[in-house]
Amino acid sequence: MSEVIRDFVPVPPGRPSSNGHAPPARTMSGLRAQREALRARIAAGDGAAADRQRALGKRTARERLALLLDEGSFTEIEMYRRHQAHGLKLGENRPHTDGVVAGSGTIDGRRVFVYAQDFTVFGGSLGAAHAAKIHKVMDLALATGSPLIGLNDSGGARIQEGVMSLDGYGGIFRRCVQASGVIPQICVVLGPCAGGAAYSAALADFTFMVRDTAAMYLTGPDVVEAVTGERVGHTDLGGADVHGGRSGVAAFVYDDEADCLADVRHLVSLLPANNLEPPPSGPSSGAWDDLRPRLAEIVPVEPNRPYDMRDVIAEIVDDDYFEVHEGWAGNVVVGLARIDGEVVGVVGNQPMVLAGVLDIPASQKAARFVRFCDAFGIPLVTLVDVPGFLPGRDQEYGGIIRHGAKLLYAYCEATVPRVQVIVRKAYGGAYIVMDSRSIGADVSLAWPTNEIAVMGAEGAVNVLFRRELNAAADAAALRAELIAEYSDQLIHPLYAAERGLVDDVIDPIETRAEVARWLAALRNKRAPAPQRKHGNVPL
Ligand code: HXC
Repeated sequence: MSEVIRDFVPVPPGRPSSNGHAPPARTMSGLRAQREALRARIAAGDGAAADRQRALGKRTARERLALLLDEGSFTEIEMYRRHQAHGLKLGENRPHTDGVVAGSGTIDGRRVFVYAQDFTVFGGSLGAAHAAKIHKVMDLALATGSPLIGLNDSGGARIQEGVMSLDGYGGIFRRCVQASGVIPQICVVLGPCAGGAAYSAALADFTFMVRDTAAMYLTGPDVVEAVTGERVGHTDLGGADVHGGRSGVAAFVYDDEADCLADVRHLVSLLPANNLEPPPSGPSSGAWDDLRPRLAEIVPVEPNRPYDMRDVIAEIVDDDYFEVHEGWAGNVVVGLARIDGEVVGVVGNQPMVLAGVLDIPASQKAARFVRFCDAFGIPLVTLVDVPGFLPGRDQEYGGIIRHGAKLLYAYCEATVPRVQVIVRKAYGGAYIVMDSRSIGADVSLAWPTNEIAVMGAEGAVNVLFRRELNAAADAAALRAELIAEYSDQLIHPLYAAERGLVDDVIDPIETRAEVARWLAALRNKRAPAPQRKHGNVPL
C-alpha cells in the first residue's frame, strides 16, 4: 500500500490495518491530528541530512524561507507532491515535496512567489514533479504580477528521470523568458547550481551568491577534468567570487546566507511588483532644496585625477544607495537608490578604476542595468566622467564594437525619465553612449568645470596643429598657448549649452536638488512603444 493511502485514508473502524495495528477511529479530530503529524514530518524533513547541511554552513530550505519572508506569511503549494518515476532505486524512495519547497509569502507586506530547493532530498536535483512545482509558482507569480524569488541548491537535472528532467528545465527557462520585463526575477544561489540550473541564474534579473557554499557551472569539476585534464575545485570553477568578479553572472556576493537573504529583502523593497506598477515611493527627503557643498570638493578639476564616483552618488541620492555588481567591471558603477523618496537607477563612470573608460564588461554591465530599469519604469540618472572607450587589440578582437553597441541600444530604446549629469569630462563616442541628449536623455546638466568634446584639449591640439608643433622650437609652450586659446571651443560646456545639447550648467552643490526637481517634472513621462515584434539588440 502506498504511503499516500496510509497517510490520508484510514481503513474503516473494526478492520485491522495492513500493519496489523488497530486502525484509528475516523473522526475529524483524528484526521486533523493525522494531517498535522504528517505536515510536521514533511516540514522536519530528514534531520540527519539537515544537520549535514548546517555543518557545511548552509541552512535548510525552510530555514531560508523563514529568513526571507515576513514571519508567518508563507503558504505552501504541493507539499505532499512526490515524483512518479520508477527504476534506479527511485520507486522505493518517494519523499514528499520532491526536493523543493514552493509557495507564496510577503516581504514587508508585499506579495512574492518563491521556491527553495532542498538539497537534503536527492541533492535538490530537478525531476518532473520538482519542475512542475517550480512551473506552478512561476505561473502564479506572472498571473498575479508578483516578483519571483528562487533559492537554488541543486545537483541539476535529476539523472534518473532523464529527459523528463531536461523537459522540466526547458519549462523553467521558457517561463523565465516570458516573465522577463513583466515581473522582477531574483535567483539566489546557496549551494551547487550545476548544469541547467545555472541558466535560471543567467536569465534572472539579479543573481545573489554566497561564498564557500555556492558554486555554479554548466559542467562540474569531474567533467572538466575528464575533457581537459585540468583539475579544478568547485568554488574555483564557479564560486561566488568567480561569478561576482569575473563572469558577471552574480550581481551580489555575501559571506553568509543571513546577510544575503536580508539584502534580497532590501532589493525587493526597491522594486515594483511588476511592469505596470510604479516602484514603491517613500516619503520626500526634502531633496529639492538640499544643497551639498561637498560636491564641489570631491571631483578634482584636473580631468585625469582619480576620485570615487560613489562619493558623488552618496551626495546626490537619499541614504540608501544599493550597488549592483559591485565586484565586476568596476570602471562603471550601477545601483538602485532613492532621490526625494522615489526609486531611481544610477549609472556612473568610475574614474578610480581604469580611469573610468568603457570596456567590454562595463558596457555589458551598464546595458543590462539600463534595460532592467527601463522595463520596470525606474528613472535613470547617469553621471558622466568618461575619457572614452578602452583602446587596444584585446578590446577590438573581443568585440567592443558589439558590446558597446549594447549600451548604446539600451539607452536609445529606454523610455523612462532620463537625466544626464556631466560632472567632469565626456569625450567622443563614450559621450554619446553615456545617455547624451542625442540618444534620448530628457535633460542634460553639466558642471562648469566640464569638458565635452571629441577628445581632450591636448589631444585635439596635437591633431589639429601637428605641423606647427613639429616645426616649433618649444612645442610644449606652443601647445599650452594653443590649448588656452581654443579651449572654449574645444571643450567648454557652454559651447554645448549654447547649441542645446546641455540644458543647464549648474553649480555642483545644486546637483541633488536639480536632479530631484527634474525627476519630479518627468514623472508622468509617457512614450508609445514602436510597432514591431522586438528589436534586434546586438547580443
Ligand atoms: C540525482 C543527485 C544529483 C543529480 C546529486 N545527487 N546530484 N541525484 N541527480 N543530478 C544526489 C547524490 O547522488 C546524493 O545522493 C545526494 O544528491 C547528495 O549529493 P553528493 O554528491 O553526496 O553531495 P556533494 O558531495 O555535496 O556534491 C554535490 C554535487 C554532486 C556537486 C552537486 O552531487 C554532483 O556533481 N552532482 C552531479 C551534478 C551534475 O552533473 N548534474 C547534472 C547536470 S546536467 P545520496 O542518495 O547519496 O544522498 C544538467 C542538464 C540540464 O543539469 C541542461 C539544461 C541546459
